[in-house]
Amino acid sequence: MGFKEGDAKKGAGLFKTRCAQCHTTEAGKNLVGPSLHGVFGRQSGQVEGFSYTAANKQKGVHWDEETLFEYLENPKKYIPGTKMAFAGLKKEKDRNDLITWLKENTK
Ligand code: HEC
Repeated sequence: MGFKEGDAKKGAGLFKTRCAQCHTTEAGKNLVGPSLHGVFGRQSGQVEGFSYTAANKQKGVHWDEETLFEYLENPKKYIPGTKMAFAGLKKEKDRNDLITWLKENTK
């Protein structure tokens, strides 16, 4: 029931409509949310110059395909107290597509 490789093209569309108002994939460019550049392999709450909640920092999770798959289904359940105002992507397929795109575009 974990992450499966999806359709990166669909993922690009999802990023644009569901994430891009708050996140970029450009290094050092924080909006309402932290830049997602280099997010794979990083601990939660580590982007320089971004003011995280204690909840996000203290989660201390290592972001990868599996943890993002779980987080993005319901961010407020995964990190109680987060200020990320996003209800979640309930469809597994959407999360697979988005994470597939993110993997290629956050390096
Ligand atoms: C309304 C704005 C908003 C939207 C929409 C949003 N986010 Fe966020 N996101 C945030 C904020 C703010 C934080 C920081 C949360 C905190 O500090 O509690 C965050 C944190 C994160 C983190 C943790 C980063 C870290 O360095 O620990 C990830 C990963 C993330 N968002 C991915 C996404 C993805 C992928 C989407 C689209 C499906 C998305 N977000 C949609 C605002 C948003």
